[in-house]
Amino acid sequence: MTPGPTEIPERVREALARPIANPDVNPAFLDTYRSLTADLAAVYSTEKDIVVLGGEGVLGLETAVASTIESGDRVLCVANGLYGEYFAEFVASQDGDPVLCSFPADEPIDPNAVREAIEKAARDGEAFAAATFVHCETPTGTINDLETVLGHCREAGVLTIVDAVSSLGGAPVPMDETDLCIGASQKCFSAPPGLTTLAVSEAAWERIEATDARGLYTDLEPWRDIETTGEFPYTHLVSNCYGLAEAVSMLREEGLADVFERHEASAKRCRELGAEIGLDTDAEEPLCSPTVTAFEVDSALAIQGVLHEEHDILVGTGLADRENDLLRIGHMGYNADVEHVERTMDALEDVLDGSDDWDTGF
Ligand SMILES: Cc1ncc(COP(=O)(O)O)c(C=O)c1O
Repeated sequence: MTPGPTEIPERVREALARPIANPDVNPAFLDTYRSLTADLAAVYSTEKDIVVLGGEGVLGLETAVASTIESGDRVLCVANGLYGEYFAEFVASQDGDPVLCSFPADEPIDPNAVREAIEKAARDGEAFAAATFVHCETPTGTINDLETVLGHCREAGVLTIVDAVSSLGGAPVPMDETDLCIGASQKCFSAPPGLTTLAVSEAAWERIEATDARGLYTDLEPWRDIETTGEFPYTHLVSNCYGLAEAVSMLREEGLADVFERHEASAKRCRELGAEIGLDTDAEEPLCSPTVTAFEVDSALAIQGVLHEEHDILVGTGLADRENDLLRIGHMGYNADVEHVERTMDALEDVLDGSDDWDTGF
Protein backbone atom coordinates (compact mmCIF):
# COMPACT_ATOMS: atom_id res chain seq x y z
CA MET A 1 0.00 0.00 0.00
CA THR A 2 2.83 2.41 -0.82
CA PRO A 3 2.39 5.29 -3.28
CA GLY A 4 4.18 3.23 -5.93
CA PRO A 5 5.56 0.96 -7.15
CA THR A 6 2.17 -0.69 -6.67
CA GLU A 7 1.11 -4.32 -6.48
CA ILE A 8 0.98 -5.99 -9.91
CA PRO A 9 -2.06 -8.05 -10.93
CA GLU A 10 -1.61 -11.65 -12.11
CA ARG A 11 -2.57 -10.84 -15.72
CA VAL A 12 0.22 -8.27 -15.92
CA ARG A 13 2.73 -10.72 -14.43
CA GLU A 14 1.75 -13.28 -17.07
CA ALA A 15 2.16 -10.70 -19.83
CA LEU A 16 5.69 -10.01 -18.59
CA ALA A 17 6.56 -13.66 -19.18
CA ARG A 18 5.62 -13.65 -22.89
CA PRO A 19 8.31 -14.54 -25.44
CA ILE A 20 10.24 -11.48 -26.61
CA ALA A 21 9.56 -10.11 -30.10
CA ASN A 22 12.74 -8.46 -31.36
CA PRO A 23 11.64 -4.80 -31.48
CA ASP A 24 14.00 -3.94 -34.33
CA VAL A 25 12.90 -6.58 -36.83
CA ASN A 26 9.63 -8.12 -35.70
CA PRO A 27 6.53 -6.19 -36.80
CA ALA A 28 4.60 -7.80 -33.93
CA PHE A 29 6.36 -5.45 -31.50
CA LEU A 30 5.26 -2.40 -33.49
CA ASP A 31 1.67 -3.70 -33.28
CA THR A 32 2.02 -4.00 -29.49
CA TYR A 33 3.49 -0.50 -29.26
CA ARG A 34 0.72 0.99 -31.43
CA SER A 35 -2.05 -0.61 -29.43
CA LEU A 36 -0.32 0.45 -26.17
CA THR A 37 -0.19 4.11 -27.25
CA ALA A 38 -3.81 3.98 -28.49
CA ASP A 39 -4.97 2.63 -25.11
CA LEU A 40 -2.83 5.19 -23.29
CA ALA A 41 -4.37 8.00 -25.34
CA ALA A 42 -7.76 6.81 -24.09
CA VAL A 43 -6.53 6.90 -20.47
CA TYR A 44 -5.05 10.36 -20.99
CA SER A 45 -8.39 11.24 -22.72
CA THR A 46 -6.49 12.91 -25.51
CA GLU A 47 -5.91 12.77 -29.22
CA LYS A 48 -2.38 14.08 -28.75
CA ASP A 49 0.51 11.78 -29.64
CA ILE A 50 1.71 9.36 -26.98
CA VAL A 51 5.32 8.26 -26.62
CA VAL A 52 6.46 5.45 -24.32
CA LEU A 53 10.12 5.54 -23.30
CA GLY A 54 12.22 2.94 -21.53
CA GLY A 55 12.99 4.48 -18.16
CA GLU A 56 11.30 5.57 -14.95
CA GLY A 57 9.16 8.68 -14.40
CA VAL A 58 12.20 10.88 -13.81
CA LEU A 59 13.38 10.07 -17.33
CA GLY A 60 10.03 11.36 -18.63
CA LEU A 61 10.41 14.60 -16.66
CA GLU A 62 13.99 15.11 -17.79
CA THR A 63 13.12 14.25 -21.41
CA ALA A 64 10.25 16.77 -21.49
CA VAL A 65 12.59 19.51 -20.28
CA ALA A 66 15.69 18.48 -22.26
CA SER A 67 13.70 18.30 -25.52
CA THR A 68 12.12 21.75 -25.23
CA ILE A 69 14.43 23.97 -23.16
CA GLU A 70 17.61 25.53 -24.48
CA SER A 71 20.41 27.36 -22.74
CA GLY A 72 19.14 30.63 -21.26
CA ASP A 73 15.42 29.81 -21.62
CA ARG A 74 13.41 31.13 -18.68
CA VAL A 75 11.04 28.56 -17.22
CA LEU A 76 8.39 29.21 -14.59
CA CYS A 77 8.42 26.26 -12.17
CA VAL A 78 5.14 26.35 -10.26
CA ALA A 79 5.37 24.39 -7.03
CA ASN A 80 3.47 23.51 -3.90
CA GLY A 81 5.62 20.53 -3.11
CA LEU A 82 8.87 18.68 -3.67
CA TYR A 83 8.25 17.49 -7.22
CA GLY A 84 7.22 20.98 -8.31
CA GLU A 85 10.56 22.27 -7.01
CA TYR A 86 12.36 19.33 -8.61
CA PHE A 87 11.53 20.68 -12.07
CA ALA A 88 13.82 23.66 -11.40
CA GLU A 89 16.73 21.23 -11.17
CA PHE A 90 15.95 19.71 -14.57
CA VAL A 91 15.74 23.19 -16.09
CA ALA A 92 19.05 24.21 -14.51
CA SER A 93 20.65 21.00 -15.78
CA GLN A 94 19.80 22.15 -19.34
CA ASP A 95 21.41 25.54 -18.62
CA GLY A 96 17.92 27.02 -18.56
CA ASP A 97 16.90 29.73 -16.11
CA PRO A 98 14.32 28.33 -13.65
CA VAL A 99 12.08 30.81 -11.82
CA LEU A 100 10.30 29.20 -8.89
CA CYS A 101 6.72 30.29 -8.21
CA SER A 102 6.12 28.58 -4.88
CA PHE A 103 3.01 28.13 -2.78
CA PRO A 104 2.80 26.50 0.65
CA ALA A 105 2.32 22.72 0.50
CA ASP A 106 -1.08 22.96 2.18
CA GLU A 107 -2.41 25.66 -0.18
CA PRO A 108 -3.69 25.47 -3.75
CA ILE A 109 -1.80 27.02 -6.64
CA ASP A 110 -3.17 30.51 -7.21
CA PRO A 111 -3.86 30.91 -10.96
CA ASN A 112 -3.89 34.71 -10.67
CA ALA A 113 -0.43 34.83 -9.10
CA VAL A 114 0.87 32.62 -11.91
CA ARG A 115 -0.79 34.77 -14.56
CA GLU A 116 0.71 37.92 -13.02
CA ALA A 117 4.18 36.33 -13.01
CA ILE A 118 3.78 35.42 -16.70
CA GLU A 119 2.50 38.89 -17.65
CA LYS A 120 5.19 40.70 -15.67
CA ALA A 121 7.93 38.62 -17.28
CA ALA A 122 6.54 39.42 -20.74
CA ARG A 123 6.37 43.18 -19.91
CA ASP A 124 9.97 43.08 -18.68
CA GLY A 125 11.09 41.48 -21.94
CA GLU A 126 11.93 38.23 -20.13
CA ALA A 127 9.04 36.05 -21.32
CA PHE A 128 8.89 32.47 -20.14
CA ALA A 129 9.62 29.74 -22.69
CA ALA A 130 7.69 27.20 -20.63
CA ALA A 131 5.96 26.57 -17.32
CA THR A 132 6.04 23.36 -15.28
CA PHE A 133 3.42 21.91 -12.93
CA VAL A 134 2.73 18.83 -10.84
CA HIS A 135 -0.77 17.38 -10.90
CA CYS A 136 -0.47 15.17 -7.81
CA GLU A 137 2.20 15.96 -5.23
CA THR A 138 2.76 12.41 -3.99
CA PRO A 139 4.84 13.49 -0.95
CA THR A 140 1.83 15.22 0.65
CA GLY A 141 -1.15 13.58 -1.10
CA THR A 142 -2.13 16.86 -2.75
CA ILE A 143 -3.95 17.04 -6.07
CA ASN A 144 -3.82 20.35 -7.90
CA ASP A 145 -6.65 21.75 -9.98
CA LEU A 146 -4.63 22.99 -12.95
CA GLU A 147 -7.32 23.81 -15.53
CA THR A 148 -7.41 27.58 -15.02
CA VAL A 149 -3.70 28.11 -14.63
CA LEU A 150 -2.92 26.02 -17.72
CA GLY A 151 -5.45 28.12 -19.62
CA HIS A 152 -3.56 31.27 -18.61
CA CYS A 153 -0.34 29.74 -19.94
CA ARG A 154 -1.98 28.85 -23.23
CA GLU A 155 -3.34 32.40 -23.66
CA ALA A 156 0.18 33.76 -23.07
CA GLY A 157 1.76 31.27 -25.49
CA VAL A 158 3.78 29.57 -22.73
CA LEU A 159 4.49 25.87 -23.31
CA THR A 160 3.21 23.71 -20.43
CA ILE A 161 4.80 20.61 -18.91
CA VAL A 162 2.77 18.62 -16.36
CA ASP A 163 4.01 15.83 -14.10
CA ALA A 164 1.03 13.47 -13.75
CA VAL A 165 3.16 10.53 -12.60
CA SER A 166 1.03 9.69 -9.56
CA SER A 167 -2.40 10.60 -10.95
CA LEU A 168 -2.47 9.32 -14.53
CA GLY A 169 -4.68 6.23 -14.62
CA GLY A 170 -6.22 7.03 -11.24
CA ALA A 171 -7.77 10.45 -11.83
CA PRO A 172 -8.62 12.57 -14.87
CA VAL A 173 -5.55 14.58 -15.91
CA PRO A 174 -5.88 18.09 -17.33
CA MET A 175 -4.99 17.56 -20.97
CA ASP A 176 -6.62 20.28 -23.08
CA GLU A 177 -4.07 23.01 -22.37
CA THR A 178 -1.13 20.71 -21.57
CA ASP A 179 1.69 20.37 -24.07
CA LEU A 180 3.70 17.62 -22.40
CA CYS A 181 2.15 15.37 -19.76
CA ILE A 182 4.24 12.70 -18.07
CA GLY A 183 3.19 9.42 -16.46
CA ALA A 184 4.98 6.32 -15.14
CA SER A 185 4.16 2.61 -15.36
CA GLN A 186 4.52 1.69 -11.69
CA LYS A 187 1.94 4.04 -10.18
CA CYS A 188 -1.79 3.89 -11.06
CA PHE A 189 -1.21 1.47 -13.96
CA SER A 190 0.12 -1.22 -11.63
CA ALA A 191 2.74 -2.36 -14.12
CA PRO A 192 6.39 -2.77 -13.11
CA PRO A 193 8.69 0.26 -12.90
CA GLY A 194 10.60 0.90 -16.12
CA LEU A 195 8.43 2.86 -18.56
CA THR A 196 7.47 6.49 -18.73
CA THR A 197 4.64 7.84 -20.89
CA LEU A 198 4.44 11.26 -22.51
CA ALA A 199 1.48 12.92 -24.23
CA VAL A 200 2.88 15.43 -26.72
CA SER A 201 0.91 18.28 -28.31
CA GLU A 202 1.51 19.65 -31.80
CA ALA A 203 2.95 22.84 -30.27
CA ALA A 204 5.34 20.70 -28.23
CA TRP A 205 6.49 18.80 -31.34
CA GLU A 206 7.18 22.11 -33.08
CA ARG A 207 9.22 23.25 -30.10
CA ILE A 208 11.04 19.91 -29.93
CA GLU A 209 12.01 20.17 -33.60
CA ALA A 210 13.24 23.72 -33.13
CA THR A 211 15.22 22.88 -29.98
CA ASP A 212 18.81 21.80 -30.06
CA ALA A 213 18.44 19.07 -27.43
CA ARG A 214 21.54 18.46 -25.33
CA GLY A 215 20.76 14.82 -24.58
CA LEU A 216 20.56 11.79 -26.85
CA TYR A 217 18.43 9.36 -24.85
CA THR A 218 16.40 12.34 -23.60
CA ASP A 219 15.66 13.76 -27.06
CA LEU A 220 12.03 13.16 -28.07
CA GLU A 221 12.52 14.16 -31.70
CA PRO A 222 13.35 10.66 -33.04
CA TRP A 223 10.03 9.41 -31.60
CA ARG A 224 7.76 11.65 -33.61
CA ASP A 225 7.09 9.26 -36.52
CA ILE A 226 7.86 6.03 -34.77
CA GLU A 227 4.43 4.53 -35.31
CA THR A 228 4.75 4.88 -39.08
CA THR A 229 8.43 4.10 -39.51
CA GLY A 230 8.75 1.47 -36.75
CA GLU A 231 12.36 2.59 -36.41
CA PHE A 232 12.87 2.75 -32.67
CA PRO A 233 15.97 4.76 -31.76
CA TYR A 234 17.11 2.10 -29.28
CA THR A 235 16.11 -1.38 -28.15
CA HIS A 236 12.81 -0.94 -26.37
CA LEU A 237 11.96 -2.64 -23.06
CA VAL A 238 9.81 -5.31 -24.69
CA SER A 239 8.64 -7.15 -21.58
CA ASN A 240 7.80 -3.90 -19.80
CA CYS A 241 5.76 -2.86 -22.85
CA TYR A 242 3.84 -6.16 -22.72
CA GLY A 243 3.17 -5.62 -19.04
CA LEU A 244 2.04 -2.02 -19.43
CA ALA A 245 -0.11 -2.88 -22.46
CA GLU A 246 -1.91 -5.52 -20.39
CA ALA A 247 -2.31 -3.16 -17.44
CA VAL A 248 -3.73 -0.36 -19.58
CA SER A 249 -6.10 -2.70 -21.40
CA MET A 250 -7.38 -3.84 -17.98
CA LEU A 251 -8.18 -0.22 -17.14
CA ARG A 252 -10.03 0.14 -20.42
CA GLU A 253 -12.01 -3.06 -19.80
CA GLU A 254 -13.06 -1.77 -16.39
CA GLY A 255 -14.00 1.59 -17.89
CA LEU A 256 -12.25 4.82 -17.02
CA ALA A 257 -15.19 6.31 -15.14
CA ASP A 258 -15.32 3.22 -12.89
CA VAL A 259 -11.55 3.28 -12.41
CA PHE A 260 -11.65 6.90 -11.25
CA GLU A 261 -14.65 6.17 -9.04
CA ARG A 262 -12.78 3.23 -7.45
CA HIS A 263 -9.87 5.55 -6.61
CA GLU A 264 -12.21 8.22 -5.19
CA ALA A 265 -14.05 5.65 -3.05
CA SER A 266 -10.79 4.18 -1.71
CA ALA A 267 -9.41 7.61 -0.87
CA LYS A 268 -12.62 8.67 0.84
CA ARG A 269 -12.69 5.49 2.95
CA CYS A 270 -9.04 5.99 3.85
CA ARG A 271 -9.70 9.53 5.10
CA GLU A 272 -12.87 8.46 6.97
CA LEU A 273 -11.09 5.64 8.79
CA GLY A 274 -8.13 7.91 9.50
CA ALA A 275 -10.46 10.49 11.04
CA GLU A 276 -12.04 7.77 13.21
CA ILE A 277 -8.67 6.99 14.77
CA GLY A 278 -7.78 10.65 15.16
CA LEU A 279 -5.44 11.11 12.20
CA ASP A 280 -5.35 14.37 10.23
CA THR A 281 -4.52 14.38 6.54
CA ASP A 282 -1.73 16.69 5.48
CA ALA A 283 -3.73 17.94 2.50
CA GLU A 284 -7.18 19.34 3.13
CA GLU A 285 -10.27 19.10 0.93
CA PRO A 286 -10.51 19.77 -1.97
CA LEU A 287 -6.77 19.13 -2.30
CA CYS A 288 -6.89 15.48 -1.10
CA SER A 289 -5.67 13.18 -3.85
CA PRO A 290 -7.73 10.15 -4.92
CA THR A 291 -4.49 8.18 -5.32
CA VAL A 292 -2.50 8.78 -2.10
CA THR A 293 -3.28 9.97 1.43
CA ALA A 294 -0.65 11.43 3.77
CA PHE A 295 -1.53 11.30 7.47
CA GLU A 296 0.29 13.45 10.01
CA VAL A 297 1.87 11.21 12.66
CA ASP A 298 4.72 11.13 15.14
CA SER A 299 7.29 8.42 14.47
CA ALA A 300 6.25 7.46 10.93
CA LEU A 301 9.32 5.26 10.50
CA ALA A 302 8.50 3.21 13.58
CA ILE A 303 4.85 2.84 12.56
CA GLN A 304 5.89 1.78 9.06
CA GLY A 305 8.21 -0.83 10.52
CA VAL A 306 5.66 -2.32 12.93
CA LEU A 307 2.93 -2.39 10.25
CA HIS A 308 5.27 -4.30 7.99
CA GLU A 309 6.63 -6.67 10.59
CA GLU A 310 3.40 -7.47 12.39
CA HIS A 311 0.80 -7.10 9.62
CA ASP A 312 2.82 -7.63 6.43
CA ILE A 313 1.54 -4.31 5.06
CA LEU A 314 4.00 -1.84 3.62
CA VAL A 315 3.09 1.86 3.48
CA GLY A 316 5.16 4.95 2.70
CA THR A 317 6.58 7.53 5.09
CA GLY A 318 7.18 11.22 4.42
CA LEU A 319 9.99 12.44 2.19
CA ALA A 320 13.04 14.61 2.88
CA ASP A 321 12.77 16.50 6.17
CA ARG A 322 9.22 15.21 6.73
CA GLU A 323 10.27 11.57 6.63
CA ASN A 324 9.20 10.85 10.19
CA ASP A 325 6.13 13.14 10.22
CA LEU A 326 3.94 11.64 7.52
CA LEU A 327 2.56 8.19 6.84
CA ARG A 328 1.52 7.80 3.21
CA ILE A 329 -1.05 5.25 2.14
CA GLY A 330 -1.10 4.55 -1.58
CA HIS A 331 -4.53 3.65 -2.89
CA MET A 332 -3.49 3.69 -6.48
CA GLY A 333 -3.90 1.19 -9.27
CA TYR A 334 -4.51 -2.36 -8.04
CA ASN A 335 -4.48 -1.10 -4.44
CA ALA A 336 -7.28 1.41 -5.03
CA ASP A 337 -9.62 -1.00 -3.36
CA VAL A 338 -11.84 -0.29 -0.38
CA GLU A 339 -11.11 -3.69 1.18
CA HIS A 340 -7.35 -3.18 0.89
CA VAL A 341 -7.74 0.25 2.48
CA GLU A 342 -9.91 -1.10 5.31
CA ARG A 343 -7.42 -3.87 6.06
CA THR A 344 -4.59 -1.35 6.09
CA MET A 345 -6.41 1.10 8.34
CA ASP A 346 -7.48 -1.67 10.76
CA ALA A 347 -3.87 -2.72 11.02
CA LEU A 348 -2.77 0.89 11.47
CA GLU A 349 -5.27 1.32 14.31
CA ASP A 350 -3.89 -1.81 15.93
CA VAL A 351 -0.31 -0.56 15.58
CA LEU A 352 -1.14 2.88 17.01
CA ASP A 353 -3.04 1.29 19.93
CA GLY A 354 0.02 -0.75 20.79
CA SER A 355 2.49 2.10 20.40
CA ASP A 356 3.53 1.95 24.06
CA ASP A 357 4.97 -1.53 23.46
CA TRP A 358 7.07 -0.66 20.41
CA ASP A 359 10.65 -1.47 20.20
CA THR A 360 11.63 1.71 18.37
CA GLY A 361 14.63 0.20 16.64
CA PHE A 362 13.11 0.88 13.22
C1 LIG B 1 4.83 13.23 -8.59
C2 LIG B 1 5.99 12.38 -8.96
N1 LIG B 1 6.75 12.75 -9.99
C3 LIG B 1 7.81 12.03 -10.38
C4 LIG B 1 8.17 10.88 -9.72
C5 LIG B 1 9.37 10.12 -10.14
O1 LIG B 1 8.98 8.93 -10.74
P1 LIG B 1 9.97 7.69 -10.78
O2 LIG B 1 10.18 7.24 -9.39
O3 LIG B 1 9.26 6.70 -11.64
O4 LIG B 1 11.22 8.17 -11.42
C6 LIG B 1 7.41 10.45 -8.63
C7 LIG B 1 7.77 9.23 -7.88
O5 LIG B 1 7.25 8.93 -6.85
C8 LIG B 1 6.29 11.22 -8.25
O6 LIG B 1 5.54 10.85 -7.21
